Amino acid sequence: MKAILPVAGKGTRLRPLAHTYPKALIPIADRPMINWILDPLVEAGLEEAVFIVGWLGTEIEAHVRQHYQQLKLSFVHQGEMLGLGHAIYLGLQPGDQEVFIILGDTLFEADIAAIRAAPHSVLGVKEVADPRRFGVAELSQGLIVRLVEKPAEPRSNLALIGLYNIKDGGALHGVLERMIRDDIRTRSEYQITDALQQMIDLGHVFEPWGIEGWYDCGKKDTLLETNRHYLNRLDHRREAVRLGDSLLIPPVHVGEGVRLSRSIVGPNVSVGDGADIRDAVVEDSLLCEGVHLQGVVLKDAVLGRDALVRQPARALHLSDNTEVDG
Ligand code: G1P
Repeated sequence: MKAILPVAGKGTRLRPLAHTYPKALIPIADRPMINWILDPLVEAGLEEAVFIVGWLGTEIEAHVRQHYQQLKLSFVHQGEMLGLGHAIYLGLQPGDQEVFIILGDTLFEADIAAIRAAPHSVLGVKEVADPRRFGVAELSQGLIVRLVEKPAEPRSNLALIGLYNIKDGGALHGVLERMIRDDIRTRSEYQITDALQQMIDLGHVFEPWGIEGWYDCGKKDTLLETNRHYLNRLDHRREAVRLGDSLLIPPVHVGEGVRLSRSIVGPNVSVGDGADIRDAVVEDSLLCEGVHLQGVVLKDAVLGRDALVRQPARALHLSDNTEVDG
């Protein structure tokens, strides 16, 4: 089984975190986003993975090479941001047979073996309230008959989620090669959606695959929501857990070598390795490796590697019912 994973995006909506942190490596609960994508693929028999890298690609490459040594790995650099169709083209070979393409920021829960066992190519879809910022699929008699990238007036609410199992990878390579040669772009980019529409026109059959578990990590709010979801999946403890003089409220993940003192952490908090948390209260937050907190109350926080938040201790003399805010 071969997979192509485009991870060249700059994650602009996740700045400032994504300025220096490759989006694919941002930790969700206990592991980087890319591991959440790769682990089920490996379980389903993945042998070969091609990554299309760009921004901060060497860090992604080092991580994947270290953690997935059993796979045949390659990394192709996309020098110019010419679109997803172009990125996927770089990962395809003319002789490819079945390929599983998954966007590097698409966390999903689906039966990969069943998808691959389907008789036709499969496109992951989900009904969404406003499909205008997605590729949109139109169906007839249970098959996909039309695909439009980010239509102003969508004719269906089935969004393409970024999961494509293509039976004839060589044919997709051919279509993309012609699109690039003839410079066929939509919104100034070579679109995978347009290439798939061309395959439909050529008689290739695509079926929709409803994906209920689809977790976006594109911006801070959805990143925290996704973190909450995966923490809940991993941590089924119901009661708070005492750890020295601190308290963990599940679901929570605490990485290796974390120092906690006089703090309350959770619910819905992931703490990266080597963090140091003192006199703090943290909930609904994602803390990356090496974060230092001292004397703070945090909620809905996303803190990058080695970030430090410290509130100087204040000598206060407060009367009854006083509130000190901020
Ligand atoms: C890409 C695809 C789009 C798909 C979306 C899923 O768009 O072009 O068809 O619906 O991913 O997230 P992007 O989000 O890169 O603009």
